[in-house]
Amino acid sequence: MSNDYDLIVIGAGPGGYVSAIRAAQLGLKTAIIEKRETLGGTCLNIGCIPSKALLNSSHHYEMAEKEFVLHGINISGLKLDLNKMLERKEETVADLTKGIEFLMKKNKIDCHFGKATIIKPGQISIRSSEKYTKNKSLRAASILIATGSDITPLEGVKINEKQIVSSTGALSLSKVPKSLTVIGAGVIGLELGSVWRRLGADVTVVEYLDLVLPGMDTEISKNMRRILTKQGMKFKMGTKVTAAKVAKESVNLTVEPRTGGEKSHIQTDVVLVAIGRSPNTKGLGLEKIGVDLDKRGFITVDEDFQTNVEGIYAIGDVVGGAMLAHKAEDEGVVCVEILAGQTGHIDYDSIPGIVYTHPEVASCGKTEEMLIDAGVEYNAGKFPFAANSRARCNADTAGFVKILSDKLTDRVLGCHIIGPSAGDLIQEVVNVMEFGGSAEDIARICHGHPGLPEAIKEAALATSGRSIHI
Ligand code: NAI
Repeated sequence: MSNDYDLIVIGAGPGGYVSAIRAAQLGLKTAIIEKRETLGGTCLNIGCIPSKALLNSSHHYEMAEKEFVLHGINISGLKLDLNKMLERKEETVADLTKGIEFLMKKNKIDCHFGKATIIKPGQISIRSSEKYTKNKSLRAASILIATGSDITPLEGVKINEKQIVSSTGALSLSKVPKSLTVIGAGVIGLELGSVWRRLGADVTVVEYLDLVLPGMDTEISKNMRRILTKQGMKFKMGTKVTAAKVAKESVNLTVEPRTGGEKSHIQTDVVLVAIGRSPNTKGLGLEKIGVDLDKRGFITVDEDFQTNVEGIYAIGDVVGGAMLAHKAEDEGVVCVEILAGQTGHIDYDSIPGIVYTHPEVASCGKTEEMLIDAGVEYNAGKFPFAANSRARCNADTAGFVKILSDKLTDRVLGCHIIGPSAGDLIQEVVNVMEFGGSAEDIARICHGHPGLPEAIKEAALATSGRSIHI
């Protein structure tokens, strides 16, 4: 029996839809299967995009409330219209998901809506979603799993998306809670905690470990906690939540020190559970066809993203590593280019990670702790935004740039930024790292004045003690 497609991609998130587009560009007859009724996956529907829309809106609100006056702009009668803010977020999501539909049509990719199960290599059954496809079975030479990840639940704290919410519920609270307790000081906790704090909630973050944003450079974590505390966010570090009791108007959380000790209670209006995400493999039929998973449930793949079962590939959150849309996209492109007979490669050392708080946090490459552990000798160059003229003009001076370069070769090994537009600024260093460039390379490149990127150049100069403006 002949195949319906050369490639079927399961999951239409950034990993899946980008893989499908690249495959179609390479001449593969391609289809995508999605269980949601819209394309774009977690990122577009209930993740990166709606959260960034709310981060932007709530930042404007806080600026108007607290910072405009510094610029000589006095406003009276400032009022929050939360419904309008949530509506704008929904419109942004709707526009972008429609954009993906357009891209599918443009690239002649068939979209099938429903839940996919792999029956055997080369064959997939789809259970219909109410709105679209009827139950059906499709055949393809290759299958690419790009099903992403889902919220990790916390025992004893059952999510009901009203008083105890996941990131999904936290994007649509119908009113600003008086108090919000966030469990987990990771990316989601700090971003969504910032949104609701800016809009007026009293936010407490309960974190199991002793550092916020664990895994980031320790100097960045410590400074970020200090900055967020100054903004009004409260932290309970080294603490675990063991139970949640839901009453009509509030939630009572039981917490205790991580290392054991006396229990105490937090009474709060709303709880956000943000303790990480887990791979989405349920219902795919992987056990039956013998696809290997690792101990944590991630699909095991080789460097070509091939699973142990011939013709079945996987990319993105479901294979582990950094759970980032851009990492999934790049893996998808490499995977289908290899499938189409080309070569491809990813440098996992130069994948940026960004936290869209204000100031933003951006990081790529090795942290100081990683270099020390590996016994690598390095130079660290630091430059504060307080000494950057553009940041001063913008009255936005919190944070610094830190560049780490190899002591012997001067090659850039890592960059860590807290600061305005850190997520955009880091790209310069990512590019330099991808080309194996040195701190000297960055220092000798002309940077426009007055500009925030000058802080990158100054940090590069600082690796050899030659900063000009400090
Ligand atoms: P995360 O892994 O970033 O942080 C989870 C935090 O919860 C950690 O600090 C961890 O120590 C803590 N934790 C775990 N169990 C706990 C417990 N029982 N009690 C208290 N604290 C506990 O996970 P998060 O924030 O849920 O994000 C999930 C994924 O989504 C991450 O991989 C993240 O990179 C990605 N993401 C990326 C964004 C971006 O690129 N801007 C935005 C949002 C999410």
